[in-house]
Amino acid sequence: MDATGRIPRSGMRAAALGVAAACALAWTGTTLAQQTKIKIGLMLPYTGTYAALGTAITNGFKLAIQENGGKLGGREIEYFTVDDESDPAKAPDNANKLIKRDQVDVLVGTVHSGVALAMSKVARDNNTLLIIPNAGADEITGPLCAANVFRSSFSNSQFGIAMGKVMADQTKKTAVTLTWKYAAGDESVGGFKEAFEAGGGKVVKELSLPFPQVEFQPYLTEIAALKPDVVYAFFAGGGAVKFVKDYAAAGLTKTIPLVGPGFLTDGTLDAQGESAQGLLTTLHYGDGLNLPKNNAFRAAYAKTFSTPPDVYAVQGYDAAQLLIAGVNAVKGDLSKRADVVKAMETAKIESPRGAFALSKSHNPIHDIYLRKVDGKENKVIAVAIKNLNDPPRGCKL
Ligand code: BEZ
Repeated sequence: MDATGRIPRSGMRAAALGVAAACALAWTGTTLAQQTKIKIGLMLPYTGTYAALGTAITNGFKLAIQENGGKLGGREIEYFTVDDESDPAKAPDNANKLIKRDQVDVLVGTVHSGVALAMSKVARDNNTLLIIPNAGADEITGPLCAANVFRSSFSNSQFGIAMGKVMADQTKKTAVTLTWKYAAGDESVGGFKEAFEAGGGKVVKELSLPFPQVEFQPYLTEIAALKPDVVYAFFAGGGAVKFVKDYAAAGLTKTIPLVGPGFLTDGTLDAQGESAQGLLTTLHYGDGLNLPKNNAFRAAYAKTFSTPPDVYAVQGYDAAQLLIAGVNAVKGDLSKRADVVKAMETAKIESPRGAFALSKSHNPIHDIYLRKVDGKENKVIAVAIKNLNDPPRGCKL
């Protein structure tokens, strides 16, 4: 300014140049950010008993991205894929490869709770955004919860709690449980036992075998001898196909009802055929849910992948929907992590299962349905528990 308080011409020119330069920089910055692809690491099982689950999650995830114009917050996407083989021992190396070698911005995975526990530790240690599209390990959204870790699926005890209540309400008195011996099965059975016994029943025997073994015969013989009112079993994928067929072949289906979390009959009905007919399960999804979102999702999925979707496809789809909510809120600028997290925490996800929000610990709060196998469908016959939220498990978020 000169003595008259006016800005001299030379000063105005300099100021104008400064503003132009700042605008150019900001413009260049935006352009650069938008030209860089967002790297997504998919760490899922593509071989072994959970292979079909990993494929369905991948398909569901990519379908939601495709419906979002193939981009996230205006940015192109690059996928990095690792087959985790459902092997917890390989999980730290696999997760580190994606984070350190491939430098992914976001990790998506996985199916197996033991793998997810190791994976979430690596994500916490590196502060990498992680979305879990299946594995239900209760601890991950309990004492191990973290601002950068989200789940689009469930926690393991949720379906056991629902089925325990349903069986107690049906006045069943005795139950035998059978599961693969690891976090998912233990927690599923734990939820069943807690609710069944609270309702007046008694779990008379807890049977288990190592994951992913499928030699069920000795356990079926023991169940036949114990003659409980009901059997609650946790198996999924290829193992669920074989178990349900073996249970029927042993002649048990008609004498001792078999129930379980929906994984027992989800994505498996083609292979299980007659052996699964009439089985009752509890899950946060059912094939025939007559919701506009579910109808549209099922049609789009079948058209894109030439196969009907299952619960795993829904969870993959919702993992992407959650990520879209976070990344769109910051227009693709992932350096605004706190804003990404806030948008994901407060998102209302229009899921094929029905709309849901996340709990404080980043786990879905959703309805749990009672389903009955009818032909090739898991038909919803009732809502077993409305808006189920996990009990507080020491999450400090
Ligand atoms: C789990 O390991 O958490 C899991 C695996 C398959 C189906 C459901 C849960």
